[in-house]
Amino acid sequence: MRRRRSILKFLMERRSIRIFRPSRMRNEIAEMIVKAGVRAPTYLQSYTIIQVKDEGLRKAVADLCEGQDELVKNAAAIFLICADLYRTSRMLDLLGHNHVLRTDKHPIESIFAVFDSALLVENMMIAAEALGYGSTILDYPLVYPREFAELFQLPRGVTPLILLCIGEKGEFPPLRPRLPLHIVFQTDKYEDVSDEELDEYLETLERAMEREGYVRKYVGLDIKYLEYLRLKTVLDDHSKKINDAIEKYLKENLLKF
Ligand SMILES: Cc1cc2nc3c(=O)[nH]c(=O)nc-3n(C[C@H](O)[C@H](O)[C@H](O)COP(=O)(O)O)c2cc1C
Repeated sequence: MRRRRSILKFLMERRSIRIFRPSRMRNEIAEMIVKAGVRAPTYLQSYTIIQVKDEGLRKAVADLCEGQDELVKNAAAIFLICADLYRTSRMLDLLGHNHVLRTDKHPIESIFAVFDSALLVENMMIAAEALGYGSTILDYPLVYPREFAELFQLPRGVTPLILLCIGEKGEFPPLRPRLPLHIVFQTDKYEDVSDEELDEYLETLERAMEREGYVRKYVGLDIKYLEYLRLKTVLDDHSKKINDAIEKYLKENLLKF
């Protein structure tokens, strides 16, 4: 019972940590975290984890993570998480049949590759928490896939998704808000949410992030959180160009939704 409570505590109290005290992780610890990661439920383990250890490579990765380079530099361990349908395709080749990864249509395998990777990452994050570390996910690899693919010599079919940065906690931020449970957790049928409820949540989010000083602390801007959210999600020529490039990259690399 005590054990169960402590696992729940890690889940309920985890928060993204973006300020690390500089350190480097021992190999055995990194391996333990990855071992916990690969125990996550999986279909065909369509992922590859590349730990970034070489100091020159760490610097090159930090340079690609503009705005969050300090976090990367100070992390005790950096893991590049890739969706890997290249290896899965080769495994299926060995079964000697005509399989779906040879075609243009394999939405199930594509979704599962991302799903597998996400479950792996969550297990790794909780393992890191249990070992006293903090962590955060960075999405730069997904935004700049070609740069990461070149840096890590990824073959076609291996898509860089995220960086998982784990480190010694240098901050103790508050828990960030979540949508009220009844909005995301429903019974027996889908219940639509009203605009008023969504508005109320956005206000809660704005107040909590303001109290934390989130945007100033992590982004270095003096704007409200909802303004920051607008900037991050705006549809303009720049975001269209980036999304077009990512879509093209995913298609070329076997992720076909
Ligand atoms: C797919 C994904 C991508 C993310 N990318 C970033 C990122 O690039 N930079 C960052 O600081 N946090 C990133 N995060 C972390 C979220 O911002 C964070 O989980 C969210 O603000 C909620 O805070 P919490 O984890 O403390 O509850 C990402 C999270 C996910 C799931």
